[in-house]
Amino acid sequence: MIPSRASFPEGFLFGAATAAYQIEGTAFGGCGSTHWDTFSATPGNVKRAEGGSIACDHYNRWPADLDLLREAGFDAYRFSASWARVMPDGVTVNPEGLDFYERLVDGMGARGLRPFLTLYHWDLPSALADQGGWINRDTALRFGDYTETLLARIGDRVETVATVNEPWCVAWLSHFLGAHAPGLRDIRAAARAMHHILLAHGVAVERMRAMGQKNLGIVLNFDHATPASDDPKDVQAAAVQDAIFNRWFTEGIFRGAYPAEVLEGLEPHLPAGWQDDMARISQPIDWLGVNYYTRHIHAHDPAKAWPHDRDVPGPLEKTQMGWEIYPEGLKGFLTRIERDYTRGLPIYITENGMANDDAAGSDDAIRSDFIARHFAAAQAAIAEGVNLKGFFYWSLLDNYEWAEGYQKRFGLVHVNYETLERTPKPSYHALKRALARN
Ligand code: FCB
Repeated sequence: MIPSRASFPEGFLFGAATAAYQIEGTAFGGCGSTHWDTFSATPGNVKRAEGGSIACDHYNRWPADLDLLREAGFDAYRFSASWARVMPDGVTVNPEGLDFYERLVDGMGARGLRPFLTLYHWDLPSALADQGGWINRDTALRFGDYTETLLARIGDRVETVATVNEPWCVAWLSHFLGAHAPGLRDIRAAARAMHHILLAHGVAVERMRAMGQKNLGIVLNFDHATPASDDPKDVQAAAVQDAIFNRWFTEGIFRGAYPAEVLEGLEPHLPAGWQDDMARISQPIDWLGVNYYTRHIHAHDPAKAWPHDRDVPGPLEKTQMGWEIYPEGLKGFLTRIERDYTRGLPIYITENGMANDDAAGSDDAIRSDFIARHFAAAQAAIAEGVNLKGFFYWSLLDNYEWAEGYQKRFGLVHVNYETLERTPKPSYHALKRALARN
C-alpha cells in the first residue's frame, strides 16, 4: 500500500515530473534543432535510432496531460522548458515558444497545479553545440540570456525554478562516458563540462536574483556508490565514484570547492582560472532537488585509466532499466545531504520512479510497490529531521528515455506511440487513492 497523504506532514507536496525533449515533440512550434536530434540521428547512439520529433505530442496534447495530473490529485507539476524552443538558434527568440510555455503555466494555474520549472533538461540548441556546447564557457553566459528571456515572460507564474537538471548527466555521462549527447569520451571535454554546467547554474541564479525571481534551486542526481568488497582499493574506487557523481556538485554548490579525489583526475584539464568562478557557483540557493533511482557497485580496475573503476552487477531485484531497487539509498542520501550540505533548506525529491515493460491495461503492481517503498524511505528521513517538502514521481507519462528510446516505460500513464493514446496504469490509480483528501 502506498502511504497516504495524511501520513506525511501537513503541506507536503506531491507531483509528477516530465522534461520537454522527452514529451513535447520538436516538430512543432518553430522548435530549433538540438544536440539530441543529431546524436539520435547518428547510428549506434540510441536504440532503434529513435529521436524526439513527435515524442508524446505533448506540445498539442498538453491540456489532456494536465487534466491527468489534476485528476490524480497532484499538487504540483515539474516540467522543463526547451531552450531550443524558446531560442531555436540559442540566441534569437521564437515568440511561438514563449507563447507555448505561457499557455502551459496558465493551464497549470487553471487546474490548481503549482508549476515547478526546470530551465535546462538537456535540449541544447545545435547552434551552441556547434560552438563547443558545454566545453565552451560562453554557453554558460548564453544560458543566462535564455533564463532571463523565459522568466521575463512566465517568471511571475512559476512557484520554483531549477536551473539545471542532473549536471552529472550533462557533463560526465555525456562527455566522459559518451552515453548521452554529445557522446564524447574525453577527459578534457568532461572536465570543462563539469565546471561550465555549474557556472551556468551560477550565472542563471545571479540573473534571476537580479530580476527578483524567488525560490531558486538546482536538481542533482544521486547514485549510491557501494564498494564491491572490503578491499581498500574497492572502497577507494567507490569513494572516488561518490565524489565524481555526488560530491563534485554538492561541494561545488554548498562549499565553493571541488573534492580532492576528483581534482586528482580533472584538475589538469579544467579551464584556467576556474577557481575564480567558485563564488558564483556557490551563491546561496533556496532549495535543493534530489533525483534518486538506484545504486551502483564499484571495483578497482587497474587496467583502466583514472578513475580506475569497473561496475559490478548487483544482486537486488532490478527494473526494466536493469537498475537495482534500493530505497535505503534514498533515505541515506536525504539524511546525508541535510547533515552535510542543506542544513534546514527545503529539499524536494524531484525524481524517483521505475521503468517497467508495461502494455496498455497490464498490471504494474511492481511500480506501486516501488512507490510505497520510496515513500516509506522519504518518511523515515523526515522522521530523522530532514526538511523534505515534496515528492515528484518520474514520470507522468511513458516517454523518450534518451539513449534507450521509447521502450523503457517510466510512466504512471501508458502511451501508445502509434495512436498517442494515454491509458492510466494501475499505479496511477493506486497513487490517486493515496493522495485523496478525505
Ligand atoms: C533521469 C532524467 C530523466 C529520466 C530519468 C529516468 O536521469 O533526469 O530525464 O530520463 O532519469
